[in-house]
Amino acid sequence: MARAARLLAALAALLAAAATGGDARPSKIAVVGAGIGGSAVTHFLQQHFGPRVQIDVFEKGTVGGRLATISVNKQHYESGAASFHSLSLHMQDFVKHLGLKHRREVVGRSAIFGGEHFVLEETDWYLLNLFRLWWHYGISFLRLQMWVEEVMEKFMRIYKYQAHGYAFSGVEELLYSLGESSFINMTQRSVAESLLQVGVTQRFIDDIVSAVLRASYGQSAAMPAFAGAMALAGAQGILWSVEGGNKLVCSGLLKLTKANVIHATVTSVTLQHTEGKPLYLVEYENEMGIGFDVYDIVVIATPLHLDNSSTITFEGFDPPIDVIQDSFPPTVVSLVHGYLNSSYFGFPDPKLFPFASILTTDFPTFFCALDNICPVNISTSFRRKQPQEAAVWRVQSHKPLLRSQLKTLFRSYYSVQTAEWQAHPSHGSRTTLPRFALHDQLFHLNALEWAASSVEVMAVAAKNVALLAYNRWYQDLDKIDQKDLMHKVKTEL
Ligand SMILES: Cc1cc2nc3c(=O)[nH]c(=O)nc-3n(C[C@H](O)[C@H](O)[C@H](O)COP(=O)(O)OP(=O)(O)OC[C@H]3O[C@@H](n4cnc5c(N)ncnc54)[C@H](O)[C@@H]3O)c2cc1C
Ligand SMILES: *[C@@H]1O[C@H](CO)[C@@H](O)[C@H](O)[C@H]1NC(C)=O
Ligand SMILES: *[C@@H]1O[C@H](CO)[C@@H](O)[C@H](O)[C@H]1NC(C)=O
Ligand SMILES: *[C@@H]1O[C@H](CO)[C@@H](O)[C@H](O)[C@H]1NC(C)=O
Ligand SMILES: *[C@@H]1O[C@H](CO)[C@@H](O)[C@H](O)[C@H]1NC(C)=O
Repeated sequence: MARAARLLAALAALLAAAATGGDARPSKIAVVGAGIGGSAVTHFLQQHFGPRVQIDVFEKGTVGGRLATISVNKQHYESGAASFHSLSLHMQDFVKHLGLKHRREVVGRSAIFGGEHFVLEETDWYLLNLFRLWWHYGISFLRLQMWVEEVMEKFMRIYKYQAHGYAFSGVEELLYSLGESSFINMTQRSVAESLLQVGVTQRFIDDIVSAVLRASYGQSAAMPAFAGAMALAGAQGILWSVEGGNKLVCSGLLKLTKANVIHATVTSVTLQHTEGKPLYLVEYENEMGIGFDVYDIVVIATPLHLDNSSTITFEGFDPPIDVIQDSFPPTVVSLVHGYLNSSYFGFPDPKLFPFASILTTDFPTFFCALDNICPVNISTSFRRKQPQEAAVWRVQSHKPLLRSQLKTLFRSYYSVQTAEWQAHPSHGSRTTLPRFALHDQLFHLNALEWAASSVEVMAVAAKNVALLAYNRWYQDLDKIDQKDLMHKVKTEL
């Protein structure tokens, strides 16, 4: 009874606000999730609707989501997403806007381990690296680069479209506007298939391409070409990360917008039948009990999936909103403080072990990648630990490492800390591309994760959802799902 009365009061307040507010701005917005997607959409929504709109951000865990750090030996290290491509324009903007800094780069060589020996070793000399690639793989390397560059060049059009205020209601419309049917096709065929078609050899795919995909996505060259191209682009450009930890971007954006962060798990979203604009009832729970509130706009900024514990139900919608159970294979990140067993990699003398980053080919092994990592705060006197010294190594694997496996990779160790993630969706496990718009003013930001899953892609999705909500709110339908935007954007300038 008390609940019904409170609900009525909340509805009445919102309707009154809508009636009196001459500008008919939304009065309350809910964002579910405070990872990069939720934090960025909060910032963009405020940019568009202005500072008077109240934004409640619900977070059941910690702000940052898959951007997180773990403390080892009094220093903090990235345990989730570690680095970004230099052309991550939204992320670059956030960092500048928040007065954060790029972390200083500490050089280190990488190599690809094939089980018995290294199939590719990076040297200190750039030309020699190119020569080796050329010697071993011929023109495949150039063809790969051209393929990746073409995808990136088309993908980058999104920034121009967004700057002009254009939004898309589904992943298919967004991809089509950037790369027409070839982008849609790339979500349906594999990396291997696409690369073979442009003349990259199977050997190059097995040795190099699959090693990069294992390290970045924990997947193989059978993953869809679009997500694969984005991962391969990440392996080519200059990478960067945020001084003090990548998650500072999320907490910074939320602080900047003065959003109201509520520590609670959202359990359901129910459509309230009213005349005119729809209203959404959001129910949540935390240690203090159960709560609810009513909103004009709701953005779900987390994958809708996984175990029963985090499933959000949608009630009162006709047709019903079906949430397809997404498949997110586990990724385990182990931060090991100890001495590398360089003998395992064929270097009996640890002093001679030259690599800071080891990728692996698809040979039967228990780990995907191994990195000698630096803390998130780097002083000017910092130098990377030598392989014969105790260092912090980040091991990525599909399953938690067994004691025997740790004993194989490390001569000895002081500590092991693990983070178990559902890092990326199993790309290609879905036949249709999902939509951002679940209802008039109910959005799912992570729909774009099905095309490619990275921090910058989620920032792009956040901008898209904020624009979509804004254009729908003010009925600016010319700015939604337009075709031939390349032409429109040119003539608008
Ligand atoms: C190990 C690892 C390595 C990675 N490496 C990279 C990399 O190098 N570069 C890169 O670009 N990307 C990388 N990624 C991917 C990147 O981290 C993600 O694509 C991105 O961070 C996703 O952000 P998000 O905000 O969409 O989701 P999330 O960060 O998952 O945020 C969702 C938030 O919602 C909260 N939540 C969920 N359900 C509810 C609910 N019912 N109520 C309230 N709150 C809820 C969660 O607690 C979470 O905080 C990596 C990911 C992992 C795990
Ligand atoms: C996309 O795939 C379809 C069929 O699979 C094919 O007919 C079409 O030509 C492809 N388009 C491009 C641009 O590759
Ligand atoms: C780490 O860097 C961040 C961002 O520059 C800064 O706010 C923080 O104080 C630093 N922490 C330490 C321990 O130096
Ligand atoms: C989901 O719920 C079912 C039945 O309530 C239970 O058997 C199952 O273990 C749960 N799964 C997870 C991942 O929690
Ligand atoms: C290190 O690797 C070698 C070679 O694989 C292995 O024989 C040895 O048991 C490993 N462990 C230690 C502690 O040396």
